[in-house]
Amino acid sequence: MAEARIGIYGLGTMGSALALNFAERGIATAVANREAEWIAPFLDRAGPLADRLVAADGLRALLARLSRPRVVMMMIPAGAPVEESIARLRPLMEPGDILVDGGNSDHNDTARRAAALAGEGLHFMGLGVSGGETGARHGPSLMLGGAEQGWTTLKPLLEPIAARFGEAPCVAHLGPGGAGHFVKTVHNGIEYADMQMIAETYGLLRDGAGWDAPEIGALFVRWSTGPLASFLVETTARVLSVPDPLSGRPMVDMIRDQAGQKGTGRWTLIEALKLGQSASAIEAAVGARAWSALKPQRLAAETQLPAQTALAPLPEPEALARALYAGRVIAHLQGFEILRAASTAHGWTLDLSRVAAIWRAGCIIRSSLMNELVAILAETPQRPPWLAPAIAGLIGPALPALRETVAAAALTGLPVPALSGALAWYDSIRRGQGTANLIQAQRDAFGRHGFERTDRAGLTHGDWG
Ligand code: 6PG
Repeated sequence: MAEARIGIYGLGTMGSALALNFAERGIATAVANREAEWIAPFLDRAGPLADRLVAADGLRALLARLSRPRVVMMMIPAGAPVEESIARLRPLMEPGDILVDGGNSDHNDTARRAAALAGEGLHFMGLGVSGGETGARHGPSLMLGGAEQGWTTLKPLLEPIAARFGEAPCVAHLGPGGAGHFVKTVHNGIEYADMQMIAETYGLLRDGAGWDAPEIGALFVRWSTGPLASFLVETTARVLSVPDPLSGRPMVDMIRDQAGQKGTGRWTLIEALKLGQSASAIEAAVGARAWSALKPQRLAAETQLPAQTALAPLPEPEALARALYAGRVIAHLQGFEILRAASTAHGWTLDLSRVAAIWRAGCIIRSSLMNELVAILAETPQRPPWLAPAIAGLIGPALPALRETVAAAALTGLPVPALSGALAWYDSIRRGQGTANLIQAQRDAFGRHGFERTDRAGLTHGDWG
């Protein structure tokens, strides 16, 4: 008997939270899980919401519980699990049914899957879901890609569960195929850069000024209102103040300095490179996580390699805040430019201002900056975002502090790869006359690659002797 409007397959952290969110919004939801024994405890935890949840024993039963057109949302790990579940669902589904992948899948996989299933009349939709467990439970930011017909059916289901900025639900249909997952990937790239720059600032205060975690946390509390106001700064403030129940020391001091990563930051970078883009702040953040994993090598290098540092005064905390702000603006510009380039390359007609709008609530990178970017990105949609007239006003006042911070860090030997990457990008992108003329001369001298002269058109060669 059809009882539910949507079926969730996968009752892990995100799937469970989304199922409860749907139920709370009055949307009858069927649930299934590979390990069927997870379902009963989930329904117990659901309390009164269990009335709107329908347990299904397997995929066939899940589909049987759904009204038409049937919507199944997979909330399972990206990669092989998604591939295997599609293979199992495919023969059970009918033309017009909608299959949603709500995980952090590679947009290339999503585009391929959408194309393959379209041949059978199935709408395969890639849905980026941001906001972690709390977001999924109470209002995530939702980035959807796939066929227009899929959006028509999903809109009344997704709008009620999405985060709200004022009255506006933070959900959008961003384009066909993998567009939604691409936008989510770039969201995560910006997330990586922002987290890394925050961590670099923490490192300067800890290792350059000798502050302890609660002191730095108190500073971040101050920063969580004003220009740096954001979910990530608030989260940083919170985690820095938490003590470890075992040792009594700050919890962060008891955590190994080796960061994990599941792939979205790296994919942002790979896609940026494929599109001929620079995303130096994001690249630095991905690289820094990789270097963090090399703990034994770093410990060995610490005693073996010279430091050759000089004493340089660390900028005042408020200058660090401005440096962090400048870095954040630059990371966002890089991310939005990747979206613009991808949109052109894939024919998506992405509206960057709209993307910023659905990133104002629910998602990990929500911030006061994002709220400002909505209007700024609407100013010059056809041009790189840094050419929007308002950007100079955002970066200008913070730029001296970014220079001061990167310089002080370099002199004292404290690593700030994302902040310095951001500054290097800024100084490159605002320089009309660069140094690539010499690169061209070198290329022509050793490989006869040819170059264009400044005073006439066409490829020519030099006589390099
Ligand atoms: C979000 C987050 C979430 C998660 C990513 C990144 O928007 O809610 O981006 O999706 O944090 O999976 O995870 P890693 O840091 O492990 O790559």
